[in-house]
Amino acid sequence: MTERSLCAAAVAAMQNAYAPYSRYCVGAALLTKSGKVYTGCNIENASFSPTVCAERTAVFKAVSEGERDFAMLAVCGGKEGEIAGVFPPCGVCRQVLAEFCPPEFPVLLVCGADTFERYTLAELLPRGFGPAFLESGV
Ligand code: THU
Repeated sequence: MTERSLCAAAVAAMQNAYAPYSRYCVGAALLTKSGKVYTGCNIENASFSPTVCAERTAVFKAVSEGERDFAMLAVCGGKEGEIAGVFPPCGVCRQVLAEFCPPEFPVLLVCGADTFERYTLAELLPRGFGPAFLESGV
């Protein structure tokens, strides 16, 4: 699985977004170390707060299938599904990623057709709060 094909999987997943309220469609594709890809889209709700982001959909799908070792994540999004630049993960999704992924975990942000920017989780969530803090007994 190449970085480009993971980005393409995120773009395909975006087609399933259920976003009648914001009209922002988001897709995510999460690659496991075993080579499987779990995709996700945002799923909005008339009550607004139950809305779940694409990244968390992908992570929760994977974890609920027994996967915990992840290699890379690709994310894309845009109004009406038109990608006009990067669609960075929200803070809650960064925190969920920090539960399972190390600081060097790569996050690809799709910014156009066949183009993406590469970040590490630590760049997106500096000084993050993760499981190690609870294990350290501080
Ligand atoms: N959204 C995501 O799917 N991922 C993010 O990280 C940021 C926001 C969704 C939630 C909502 O359906 C729409 O984008 C607008 O906030």
